[in-house]
Amino acid sequence: MTRMDAFRSRVKGFAFGGDYNPEQWEPAVWREDVRLMREAGVNAVSLGVFAWASLEPEPGKYTFGWLDEVMDLLHDNGVSVNLATPTAAPPVWLTHLHPEVFPIREDGQPFGFGNRLHYDPSSPIYREYAANITTKLAERYSFHPALAMWHISNEYGPTAYNEAAAVNFRRWLRRKYGDLDALNEAWTTRFWGQIYTDWDQIDVPHIPRTWMNPTRRLDFKRFTSDALLECYIAERDIVRSFRDDIPVMTNFMRFFRHADYWKWAPEEDAAALDIYPNPAEADSHVSAAFNYDLFRSLKGGQPWMLMEQSSSAVSQWKLNVVKEPGRMRLGSLAAMARGADSVMFFQWRASRGGQERFHSAMVPHSGPDSRTFREITDLGRELELLAPVAGTTSRSEIAILFDWDGWWGLEEVFGLPRNDFSYTDTVMRHYTPLWERHYPVDVVSAASALESYKVLVVPNAYLIDDEGVRRITEFARNGGTVLMSFFSGVVDGDNRVRPNGYPGAFRELIGAKIDEYWPARPHEEFAVDFADGRRASATWWREDLHLETGTALAAYADGLLAGRAAVVENRYGAGRVVYVATLLEQAAFDALVAETVEAAGVRRHFEGVPAHVECSVRGDDAYEYVFLLNHSGELGASVPVGGEGTDLLTGEAVSGQVELEPLGAAVIRLARA
Ligand code: GLA
Repeated sequence: MTRMDAFRSRVKGFAFGGDYNPEQWEPAVWREDVRLMREAGVNAVSLGVFAWASLEPEPGKYTFGWLDEVMDLLHDNGVSVNLATPTAAPPVWLTHLHPEVFPIREDGQPFGFGNRLHYDPSSPIYREYAANITTKLAERYSFHPALAMWHISNEYGPTAYNEAAAVNFRRWLRRKYGDLDALNEAWTTRFWGQIYTDWDQIDVPHIPRTWMNPTRRLDFKRFTSDALLECYIAERDIVRSFRDDIPVMTNFMRFFRHADYWKWAPEEDAAALDIYPNPAEADSHVSAAFNYDLFRSLKGGQPWMLMEQSSSAVSQWKLNVVKEPGRMRLGSLAAMARGADSVMFFQWRASRGGQERFHSAMVPHSGPDSRTFREITDLGRELELLAPVAGTTSRSEIAILFDWDGWWGLEEVFGLPRNDFSYTDTVMRHYTPLWERHYPVDVVSAASALESYKVLVVPNAYLIDDEGVRRITEFARNGGTVLMSFFSGVVDGDNRVRPNGYPGAFRELIGAKIDEYWPARPHEEFAVDFADGRRASATWWREDLHLETGTALAAYADGLLAGRAAVVENRYGAGRVVYVATLLEQAAFDALVAETVEAAGVRRHFEGVPAHVECSVRGDDAYEYVFLLNHSGELGASVPVGGEGTDLLTGEAVSGQVELEPLGAAVIRLARA
C-alpha cells in the first residue's frame, strides 16, 4: 500500500476541504468552524501554511498550544490534517536578525517585508531556521492522530540574486561542468569575450548592460529550480526521519515557469496544484484542463491533488468576477475528471483583513447562510457519492510535449528570430483542438517514455537536448506519429545552434532542410494551399524550407516563398511526421490536428458531442467512470454513452443517451466489458 493509498482510505475517497488559518481567529470561531466543516462534509484541511510567526514569535520561543488545541479539535471532528511547514512566511524577526535572507532582485534591490516567500532559497541561514521549525513541528505532531499528510512550505518560487545564491550557483555549476573549460564551451564565452578563468568570477546574472549570455541565463533558471527543490527535499527528509508512512507534498502552480515540475514530482508522494481559472475568461476551463492533464502526468498517471482553488471570486486581478452559480461545482468535477483525488480550496474562512480579504472562501464573509456555503455543502455531498472514483486512473493514446527547458529557451532569453513567443499559448493552441474533440491527452517531458502513445504533439520545441531528440526520433521510427510545429530542434541543451542547418535535430525526421527562418512582418498574411484543394491563411512565421525526403501537404500560394512547402509530411521508419512550418489560421490548424490524429488510428471515445461538453474517463479494472460536463451556461446537450450504466450523482440508471442542462454534469459508471 502506498502512502497515498493509505491517505485515500483514511479520507474514504476524495479529500475535501481547504487551507485553514485558525491563527487569524478566536477559539470560539474554531468551534464554529468544525461544526460547519462537519455540515459541509469536509474531511481534510491544510493547516498552518503561513503560521511561522504564530508558532515561533521570537527566535527559539515556541507557542504550540493553539495548534495542539486545533489539531485535537479537528481530529475529534473527523477532519484529517495536511500539516504545513510554515517556511513560506519567514517571521519579521528573522529578516531583522538576518536581512540577508531577503531575496535580492535581478536589479540588485532587496524585496521589503510585507508579503511572503521573502527568502533566498540558497541562504544557509534561511535553511537553518526553516529546518529548525520543521523539526519542532515534526517532533510534536508526527504521531498526532490528526496528521494525514505533510504540506511542505507553499508555492515554491522566489528567484534570488544574493551572494548566497552566487555561492550556491557556483557549486551547482562545478557539479554540472566539472571544469571551467567545459563551462566556457557550453556558454560560448568566446563570444563577446566573456571567458572565465576562475570559478569565483562567476556571479548570478544581474542585469547586464544589454542582453544576457543565453546559456548563463538558462543555467541560472535550472539552478534556481534546483535550489528551491533542495529546500523542499531538506524539509521533506526531516519530516520523513520522524515517520515514513505519511505522504509528503508541496503545492505547485498553474503554468509556473520558474520551477521544473518534472524534476520535482518524483520527490513527492503526489503532485498538487493550486489553480484559479479566471471566470471572466470564456475558455479558462480549457487551460485548466491542460494543467490537470499535466498534473496527472507528472507522476506517470497517478491521481493528483487539487490543493487550492476558489469557491468564487479571487482578489488578485484588476477585475475579479464571481464564479456564477454552478461553476464552482463544474470546475471541481473537471479536475476530478482528469485525475484529481481532492477538491481543496483557499481558504476555509474568509479573512477579515490582510491582502486577500476579498478572496472568496468556503465560509464567506456572509457566513454559512450564503450561496457559496450552500454550493460547498452540496459539493461535499456529491464527493461522497463519487468516492469509488478516487484512486482510479486514465489512459491516453496522445501525448503532448511540455518541457521547462524548452519553455526557458523560448522565453527567458533575447536574441531569437522573434522574441515574442508564448510557450503556453503555443501549447494551448495544440491542445485545444484535442480537448474540443474529447481526446484524452497525456503530457510528457523530453525525458518521458513514449512507447505507449500513438501520437506525439511537439509544439515549438526550440531547445531540446540530445536525449529528447533521441526519444522523439525513435518514437517515430518505431511507428509513432509526430505532429511538430515550427522552430523545433534548433538548439541543443546548451542553447547552441545545432550544426548542419536547421532544424538541426530534426532534419531527417521532418525530411526537410530549412535555409532561413522568416518571421513575418506585422499584419503580413500568406495564402497556403493544401494538396486537397483547401486554402488557408497563415501569419507570424515562415520557413525557407527545402524538401529532402518529405513531401508538401500544403504550400504557400503567394509571396516570395510561393510554391515552397508550409506543411510537410515525412515517412520516417515505420512512423509518420507532420511538420507545420508556419502559423496556420486556427480552423485549418485544428483540422490538420484532427486529421493527423485520425490517420494515426487514435480511438475516438465521444463522437458528435458538442465542444462545450467536456468528456473525460477514469477507471479501474471493473468500471469506467465517464465524466460529462456541460460548460455552457445557455445550451443543453444530449450525449450518447456507450452502454448501460448509473449516474453516480443521481443514482439513476442511464442507457444510451444522457441529457445535460446548461452547466449540468453527469458521472456515469459503466461496467467494463
Ligand atoms: C495561492 C496561495 C494562497 C492564496 C491563493 C489565493 O495559491 O498559495 O496562499 O494566496 O493563492 O490568491
